[in-house]
Amino acid sequence: MPDKLNIVAISGSMRAKSFNTSLLRAMRDIANANMSIDIQTLKGIPVYDGDDEDATGVPQIVIDLAEKIRAADGVIIATPEYNFTIPGGLKNATDWISRVKNQPFGNKPVGIVGAAAGPLGTARSQYQLRQNLVGLSALAMNKPEVFVGSAHTKFADDGSLADEETGKFLKLWLDAFDAWVRRGF
Ligand SMILES: Cc1cc2nc3c(=O)[nH]c(=O)nc-3n(C[C@H](O)[C@H](O)[C@H](O)COP(=O)(O)O)c2cc1C
Repeated sequence: MPDKLNIVAISGSMRAKSFNTSLLRAMRDIANANMSIDIQTLKGIPVYDGDDEDATGVPQIVIDLAEKIRAADGVIIATPEYNFTIPGGLKNATDWISRVKNQPFGNKPVGIVGAAAGPLGTARSQYQLRQNLVGLSALAMNKPEVFVGSAHTKFADDGSLADEETGKFLKLWLDAFDAWVRRGF
């Protein structure tokens, strides 16, 4: 394991002002010098179509993301909650990624986080994502969990984290995730 962990973070939202992307940016700022966090979005990934896959293979944009995941020491996924589950775009991305050879998520340490305007902070969608990660043979950290509820009160208009308690908790979570990645599987 390298001294400095190479972590890929995926935001399940494509909005420029996404709370979930803002959450990952805040985590990147808070992470200590032993962890670099490379934030990726899912913009441009087409809807999965088995006929397209047969005709032209897995799209390059998916292969590029899959190879980043494969090369990473760990992955953080920030999921929004749409209608009590994960956004279709995020599920679509994990479906495509699972079609890349040798399961890029296989045995990969993964941390799940999320932010929503509602009070539950994506708790429901995070448990749907957890189930999906079982199917991908990923190793999702169980605890602690990050449910950023009432996200509009936690982030400033420019997307910066404006809530000290959330920042302290994110630091604790990042330390736990660092240990999860380094424990060796
Ligand atoms: C189609 C749709 C469904 C949503 N359903 C939920 C929901 O079930 N639970 C929830 O807490 N928020 C829900 N929301 C509100 C989102 O939490 C809010 O839009 C949030 O800002 C999305 O994440 P983002 O800021 O990272 O884009 C929904 C939003 C959309 C667009």
